[in-house]
Amino acid sequence: MGKTLKLVVAAAGLLTISATASAFSTGPCKACHAVDHDVVGPAWKRVAEKYGSADALAKVFKGGFKVEDRKIASTEPKFKAQAALMTGQFNALIKGHEDDAAKALFEAVKTGKM
Ligand code: HEC
Repeated sequence: MGKTLKLVVAAAGLLTISATASAFSTGPCKACHAVDHDVVGPAWKRVAEKYGSADALAKVFKGGFKVEDRKIASTEPKFKAQAALMTGQFNALIKGHEDDAAKALFEAVKTGKM
């Protein structure tokens, strides 16, 4: 492979990486969530039932995801005690992707895959 072609291939690789990084993925959420059972965080099936729609969840995300607005943490003391853990994840992964994140959660519940 010539030097120029190698550079072009490398540049294309970088473009792919940055395109992936800017899209929302449920991958990191799997460390603490599953669709149908509680892990560190609540089962997404229960989350979806409590919020009712992706729009309703996106609205709470866009409002800053305040603990008192969270349907699970505001009603379940066990999870309220761990709300700060989820706040860190919200700031790192969901902020700026509120609609995509809410849609991805409901999609995962529908398909059973996250
Ligand atoms: C390090 C562990 C961890 C990771 C990673 C994580 N969560 Fe959570 N999540 C929690 C915990 C603990 C709770 C319960 C506390 C709470 O509800 O605020 C929770 C609660 C939630 C809730 C319900 C909030 C409520 O109380 O109504 C949603 C929605 C949620 N997580 C979405 C996500 C999404 C989307 C991701 C991936 C971008 C994610 N979480 C990644 C730990 C995590």
